[in-house]
Amino acid sequence: MAETIQFAVADGIATLTLDVPGRSMNVVTDQFLDDLNESVEKVVQDDGIKGAIITSAKEAFVAGADLMWLVNVYDANLPASELLEKNQKFTHALRTMETCGKPFVAALNGTALGGGLEIALACHQRIAADNPKAVFGLPEVQVGLLPGAGGTQRLPRLIGVQPALELITQGTHVPAQKAVKLGFIDQVVPADQLLDVAAAWVNDNPDAVQPWDQKGFKVPGGAGAFHPKIAQVFMGGSALVAQKTNHNYPAPIAILSCVYEGTIVPIDTGLKIESRYFTSLFQDPVYRNMTRTLFINKGAAEKGARRPKDVPPAECKKIGMLGAGMMGAGIAFVSARAGMDVVLLDSTLEAAEKGKDYSRGLMAKRLEKGRTTQEKMDQLLSRIHPTAEYADLEGCDLVIEAVFEDRDIKADVTAKAEAVLAADKVFASNTSTLPISGLAESSSRPKNFIGLHFFSPVDKMPLVEIIMGKETSDEALAHSLDYVRQIRKTPIVVNDSRGFYTSRVFGTYVNEGMALLKDGVAPALIENAGKLAGMPVGPLAVHDEVTLDLSVKVFKQTQEDLGDEYDAPSAMDVTFKMVDELGRSGKRFGKGFYDYPEGAKKHLWPGLAEHFPVADSQPDVDEVKERLLYIQAIETVRCMQEGVITTAADADIGSIFGWGFPPWTGGTLSFIDTIGLDQFIAKAEALAERHGPRFAVPELLSKMAAAGERFYPPAADAGQRDAA
Ligand code: NAI
Repeated sequence: MAETIQFAVADGIATLTLDVPGRSMNVVTDQFLDDLNESVEKVVQDDGIKGAIITSAKEAFVAGADLMWLVNVYDANLPASELLEKNQKFTHALRTMETCGKPFVAALNGTALGGGLEIALACHQRIAADNPKAVFGLPEVQVGLLPGAGGTQRLPRLIGVQPALELITQGTHVPAQKAVKLGFIDQVVPADQLLDVAAAWVNDNPDAVQPWDQKGFKVPGGAGAFHPKIAQVFMGGSALVAQKTNHNYPAPIAILSCVYEGTIVPIDTGLKIESRYFTSLFQDPVYRNMTRTLFINKGAAEKGARRPKDVPPAECKKIGMLGAGMMGAGIAFVSARAGMDVVLLDSTLEAAEKGKDYSRGLMAKRLEKGRTTQEKMDQLLSRIHPTAEYADLEGCDLVIEAVFEDRDIKADVTAKAEAVLAADKVFASNTSTLPISGLAESSSRPKNFIGLHFFSPVDKMPLVEIIMGKETSDEALAHSLDYVRQIRKTPIVVNDSRGFYTSRVFGTYVNEGMALLKDGVAPALIENAGKLAGMPVGPLAVHDEVTLDLSVKVFKQTQEDLGDEYDAPSAMDVTFKMVDELGRSGKRFGKGFYDYPEGAKKHLWPGLAEHFPVADSQPDVDEVKERLLYIQAIETVRCMQEGVITTAADADIGSIFGWGFPPWTGGTLSFIDTIGLDQFIAKAEALAERHGPRFAVPELLSKMAAAGERFYPPAADAGQRDAA
C-alpha cells in the first residue's frame, strides 16, 4: 500500500495525489520512490485505466528531495552501485510513465522544484494552476547536486540547450507564466479547473508520445560540438563555471557534462549518463556539507534551534536604535521592514534624520526598480522616528546601541536608555570588538544585556552573531532570538571573547595573508590562492577593505586591556609598517596593499616588492590555500575549546555567512570532519613546525581524534556534536 501517494480511479482516469504524511510539503524519499513505482505500475497494468493525472494534496506540488534523507544517504557510505540503484528507482518510474503508451498529465497545483519538476517533465502534458505563489525550477545545484531524475535530459530536449543550462546551472526558478514562455509548462488554467482540464487532456490524447520518443526528434536549437552555436554555448559555459567555482564545486561541471554528452545520444543513453554523474556527486562530500550547513542547520537556527525552550515567545513591536550611523541606519531599516516601529536616536535630530535618509534611499532605489510600491515605502518610512530625546524610547521592547566604538560613550548611552526602558526588556550592543561582559558592567541590569553583532551592509548580510555576556539570562537570549527571527536573519549564539567568534577567526585569515607576505610569497599568489580556495576576496584585499587603521586601533585597545597576556597576531608588524611607515591604511584612504586609481580597477601596489621582497623559491598554490584555510579551522577549534562557540552548526553557519568561509567546505568544522581528524592533525602539526605555534593542534582536537569522534556524528546518530 502506497503511503505517500493516494490512488483513485474515476471514468477510467487514475489520479495520483501526492501526499507525504506528516510533512507540510511533499518531498522525495525512499518510500516516495517505492510508492511512485508502485502507482505507475498500477496505471500501466490496469486495462481499465486509460491515463493518469499526477497532482498534490498539499499547497505545493513537490518541494524537491528530503534534505535530511540526502545527508543520511551520504553518511551511510553506500557503494556506488547502491547509489546508482537508488537513483535509477526514480528514473525508472518516470521513464515507465512516459513510454507506457498511456497519457500522463501533471496537474501542478503549486510549486514544483527539483524532483517535483522532474516528475512533471516526464509527463506528456504540464498544466499549472494560476497560482501567483507557485514557482518552477531545478535548484539541485544549490545543494551541490544535479537533477538526477532526467532533469538534465528532458529540459534541454524541451526548451533547448542554452536556456536549460541557464536554469540548471544557476538553480533558478520561475513563475508559471515565465515557464510557459520558456516552454516547459504547457498551459496555465484557473485553479478550480485544473483537474477538469487535465482529465480532458487525457481523454483527448490517448496516444500521447514525448517529443524525444518520436522519430526524427531533434533538440530544439541544436546539440553537440559540431553545432556552431551550441559549441560556443559549451565553451562559454565551461569558462564561466570555472571562473565562478574555481573547480571547488563539482555539480555545475557535471551538469554541463550531462547536457553536452546526453543530448547527442538517444534519451535512454542520456539518462544513463546523467545517473552516472549524479552518483559521482552523491559520493562527494561537497553536497553533504552544503546541504547540512546551508539548508538543514541554517533552517534550524532560524527556527530557534538555540532558543531556550521554556521562555514564552515575545513579539518585538517597537525598538530603540541608539546611533544612526552606518550600522544604526541599517538596523533601523531591517527592523522597520519587518513591521516594527523604530525610534532612531542620535546626538542630534539632524544626525538621526540622516540615518533615516538611508532607508529613504534604499526604498527609492527599490521603487525605481519596481521592487516595491510607493505605499509600502511610505509605510516603512512612517515607522522610523528620528529623535535626540531618550524619553522617546518609552515603550520599546528592545534597545540596540550602535554608537561609536568607545566604552565611555557606550556606558553613557546604556545608562540613559535604561532609565527609560522597562525593567524586563533587553538592551543589546552591536559592538564589533569590545567584550560584552565588560560593557555590561555599566548596565544596571546585566542579565538583560546582550551582544547583537550585525554585519555590514545590514540589509544584505544574513547573519547576526548573538553574544552572551557572563550574566546574560536565558530570557534575554530567547527574546533576542525572537527579534532576529522577526527581521528574518540567521542567528548564531556565542559566548563572550575578544572578537567573539566571527571577527576572531576572520582575523586569522587576514593575519595569514600578511604572514605569507612576510615569508616572501608573491602577493598575487597569496591573493589568488585565497580566491581559488573559495574565499570571496584575497586576504590582503579584504584587509584593505576593513582598513588597516581599524586593525591598529583594535590591537592597541587589546594591548591596553590585556597587557602582557596579549598573544598578538604574528604578522601585526606588517600592518604597522603599512600604516606608520608607508602611510597606506587601506581602501578608504585610496592606498593599502592595493592601489585604487580613480576610474580604473584596483591593482596590487608595485611597491610591496621593495618592502616585502619576494623569495626566489615560491610555494605551491595548494600549500598557500592550505595555510589560509587551516588557520581558520584551527582557530575555530580553539573557540570551541574555550567555549566561545558551543555547537558545530553555529561554527559552520557563522563561518560561511559571517565572513565568507568557502561554502563548499560546509564551514570551518565540517572542513575538518571532511578531511578527517587524523589527517587534519598531521597536516596542522607539519604547518606548526614550519610556520609557528599558531598552527599548533588544539587539545580538544587531539582528544576528539583519540576518541574517534567528529564534530558531526553520522546523521543517523544525532544532530551534531555539542561543546565539550
Ligand atoms: P558610525 O560612526 O557610522 O555611527 C555611529 C553613530 O553613533 C553616529 O551617527 C554618531 O553620531 C552616533 N553617536 C555617537 N555618540 C553618540 C551618543 N552619545 N548618543 C547618540 N548617538 C551617538 O559607526 P558604525 O560603523 O555605524 O558603528 C557603530 C557601532 O557598530 C560600533 O560599535 C561598531 O564597532 C559596530 N559595528 C560596526 C560594523 C561596521 O562594519 N562598521 C560592523 C559591526 C559592528
